[in-house]
Amino acid sequence: MGQKIINVEQSEYWNEKSGPKWLKNEDALNERLSILTNELFSRAKIKATDKVLDIGCGGGETTFKVSKLLVDGGQVLGADISHTLLDHAKSKFSNIDVMKFMHCDAQNYSFDKNYFDKVISRFGVMFFENPYEAFKNILDSMRTNGSLNFVCWTNLMENEFIIEGMDIITKYTQKVLPEVTKDPGPFAFSDRKYVNDVLQSAGFKNINIDEVYTSISTKDTAEQDAEILMGIGPRARILSEENLSREKMAMIKNEIIQRCEKRQMGKEISYKACLNYVSATK
Ligand SMILES: C[S@@+](CC[C@H](N)C(=O)[O-])C[C@H]1O[C@@H](n2cnc3c(N)ncnc32)[C@H](O)[C@@H]1O
Repeated sequence: MGQKIINVEQSEYWNEKSGPKWLKNEDALNERLSILTNELFSRAKIKATDKVLDIGCGGGETTFKVSKLLVDGGQVLGADISHTLLDHAKSKFSNIDVMKFMHCDAQNYSFDKNYFDKVISRFGVMFFENPYEAFKNILDSMRTNGSLNFVCWTNLMENEFIIEGMDIITKYTQKVLPEVTKDPGPFAFSDRKYVNDVLQSAGFKNINIDEVYTSISTKDTAEQDAEILMGIGPRARILSEENLSREKMAMIKNEIIQRCEKRQMGKEISYKACLNYVSATK
């Protein structure tokens, strides 16, 4: 991995080990995030000749989706701090003229000034150590009237996909969900007032934050879904720290499978989700 800009002691969420974990579940997550990804794109209104920056692009799913909207003259740059994820993105999406990937710390990298028409991010902007400086840096890279659109999580307890099964894990481990703070992490931007303050202080205009209830759904089986739930977020961290016996892990998995089965309607398992869609202009 590249420069370590995240205070790993503070950010229990995104560190050197997170890239490979995200990749392992990449297809499953992209399927589950598809409704909210489409919503982000419908808000970003990317034009065929736009120059677009995708911050914290990870495995490149959203960067690739932008590239399909572009013609000659349009460009998309996927920027990420994880070499693991960028290497994956580059090998998955090679030889697309309008798309490039770049390793950088988006909070302080010297992007070309006044360059991008659109800046987007799907869950990639909540990991900055100093969000005020990071968004000032992002603003500098944008053209006048350029726009920023990103999606981030709201309140942890409103997001069933992240908390389902946590009570089962607590029963077996006595460990509870960590407290949500503004430290770098997926829920760092759950407070709308704080997000507004960060963007306003950085110099953004026309800031709009829409809290939207939506769903995260999958056509996976209940067993596959239980594996995903146990493999991401606070549940995964607690399970990996606890060193539980195979027997206990199997008991936890069985109980989580039953939860997933209860959610199954037809071929789909769904979770209530609550997101902030944030937009602003330069
Ligand atoms: C939750 S993942 C989201 C990945 C991708 N946007 C997606 O939706 O699949 C967060 C991403 O932000 C990246 N990231 C975290 N801090 C960053 C920084 N300071 N500069 C650039 N990327 C960063 C991580 O490496 C990771 O790829």
